[in-house]
Amino acid sequence: ADEPLILGIETSCDETGVGIVRGHTLLADAIASSVDEHARFGGVVPEVASRAHLEAIVPTMDRALAEAGVTIADIDAIAVTSGPGLAGALLVGVAAAKGYALAAEKPVYGVNHLAAHVAVDTLEHGPLPEPAIALLVSGGHSSLLRIDDLARGVTPLGATIDDAAGEAFDKVARLLGLPFPGGPWIDREARAGDAGAIGFPRGLTAPKDLAAHRYDFSFSGLKTAVARWVEARQRAGEPVPVADVAASFQEAVCDVLVGKALDACRTSGIETLVIGGGVAANSRLRAMAEHRAAKHGIRVRVPRPKLCTDNGAMVAALGSHLVAAGVTPSRLDLPADSAMPL
Ligand code: KG4
Ligand code: ZN
Repeated sequence: ADEPLILGIETSCDETGVGIVRGHTLLADAIASSVDEHARFGGVVPEVASRAHLEAIVPTMDRALAEAGVTIADIDAIAVTSGPGLAGALLVGVAAAKGYALAAEKPVYGVNHLAAHVAVDTLEHGPLPEPAIALLVSGGHSSLLRIDDLARGVTPLGATIDDAAGEAFDKVARLLGLPFPGGPWIDREARAGDAGAIGFPRGLTAPKDLAAHRYDFSFSGLKTAVARWVEARQRAGEPVPVADVAASFQEAVCDVLVGKALDACRTSGIETLVIGGGVAANSRLRAMAEHRAAKHGIRVRVPRPKLCTDNGAMVAALGSHLVAAGVTPSRLDLPADSAMPL
């Protein structure tokens, strides 16, 4: 009578996550992060991440099972992120999933990390109305997707052509002297700043760019513009107004993200916008999306910040959806695919 119990494993970047769900109900979400080990390098170091996953995977697995009050024998299927992500990091999760699946005789589902970022919203808001548009913004990816069927029909509409949105937040934070990862720091600083103080560029929004890149993003020009502006201040011997720079930069990023996401909704007549990924934790992005979407009768769904960043629950949520949709499990020789397409 019970819905199947699904365990999800995530190791695509710097978080080792194991989540357990039943249907749309979250039972456990255990996480071990190596973010502190990367902080002094100002970015995620792949070798450091792989080693940290290797050390954390079994303890995190045990913690998730204990949190849910179940054993591996109770699990009905194991889902694992098989891409995209860091090759060595993905391998740890995929190898672990295969090992547990083989030992406990469970089916295994290799899933796409981006689709999992969308699926996690079902744990908070229930089944996703389809079709929907998804905006995924994190340290590793910035994509607009059309979701006709979360199990079988996810279509990329556009993506960043250079830096990911989170990467831009992290780089700008660094040049403002804020710690890594910088997104939450910019968010905090921006609250005391004037978002209209400096007019930073909105990448790929000029009419000439829209023809070829309507749903693509570019943040590297914005990052350079912020660097130039800060350098000019410093050269003039003037103090850098950190809060105003943070607020104006954040406004430029959010303006482009929300503008393109709502354009995709309106052009296709789709009334649901899901936002996910670490940058979806940004307070300005959430407020701006809700405000502008409401004017067009579009509903915005954003999971709570803890579910927006990488975790095992999102993988379990997608696994649960695939099982419910009757999708065939992966073969036990499923590969880790760092450039996995949707
Ligand atoms: O999804 P995530 O945890 O990992 C990746 O797959 O990359 O996203 C991490 C990114 C980092 O770049 C971080 O600075 C950004 O999400 N981030 C934020 C906020 N919280 C996290 N960016 C802007 N505002 C925030 N509040
Ligand atoms: Zn992610």
